[in-house]
Amino acid sequence: MLIFWESRLRRIAMFIAVIGFLIVPNSQARSEYGDVVINNYSDDAGMRPVVFPHWFHRIRFRCKVCHSDLGFEFKAGGNDITMLKIFDGEYCGACHNDEIAWSVENCSLCHSGKPGTPTQIHNSTIDRLVIPPGVTGQ
Ligand code: HEC
Ligand code: HEC
Ligand code: HEC
Repeated sequence: MLIFWESRLRRIAMFIAVIGFLIVPNSQARSEYGDVVINNYSDDAGMRPVVFPHWFHRIRFRCKVCHSDLGFEFKAGGNDITMLKIFDGEYCGACHNDEIAWSVENCSLCHSGKPGTPTQIHNSTIDRLVIPPGVTGQ
């Protein structure tokens, strides 16, 4: 009986450790499955490519908000997004305006990709697209 409980407790402890690992937020910026890299202009303009965390947004807003009301085409790189338009409240700027979400001054939160990463949907859970904070270079 004692042995039974010991192994049971050990299993519960292990379970808690695993869950803890899964739910403790990882503060390091990282790319995740389904992220969209947008790089029509960024590299050429000397900025890091934009990494758009699609799932992060999908769980917070209905598809319609972006793909109908804000006019985002359903295609990686399929929108002609410029900073002027964002400052004018179009595309990302409809929310990243210090009201619904943090504002455009936070360049590196959006321009977080590795320089040279082409426009794409990130379909790998292994490749790293994002440069960890603190790493310099472009
Ligand atoms: C909310 C997200 C977001 C933030 C914050 C942001 N950008 Fe952008 N930016 C974008 C997106 C999306 C594009 C289009 C990317 C592409 O196609 O390469 C873009 C494109 C650009 C471009 C190339 C096109 C153009 O308009 O000339 C430059 C340069 C740029 N950003 C600079 C900046 C600077 C500087 C800041 C900070 C003051 C900044 N961005 C903050 C999302 C953002
Ligand atoms: C906060 C805005 C936002 C919301 C909400 C959103 N999307 Fe998107 N979606 C985007 C952006 C931005 C892109 C990339 C467009 C680009 O690269 O120019 C995109 C790209 C896509 C694409 C093409 C890329 C791919 O992954 O195949 C599809 C399909 C898509 N969205 C479906 C959806 C669906 C389905 C929902 C709701 C469950 C949804 N989106 C919710 C902003 C959003
Ligand atoms: C419909 C509103 C909406 C639109 C459009 C939108 N965002 Fe966001 N975004 C949010 C909200 C809300 C947050 C969460 C802000 C917070 O945590 O304070 C967020 C957070 C983010 C984050 C941080 C995610 C994280 O892990 O913390 C990034 C990066 C980002 N947005 C990029 C973009 C880019 C790039 C675009 C345009 C292609 C965009 N967003 C368009 C509402 C939006």
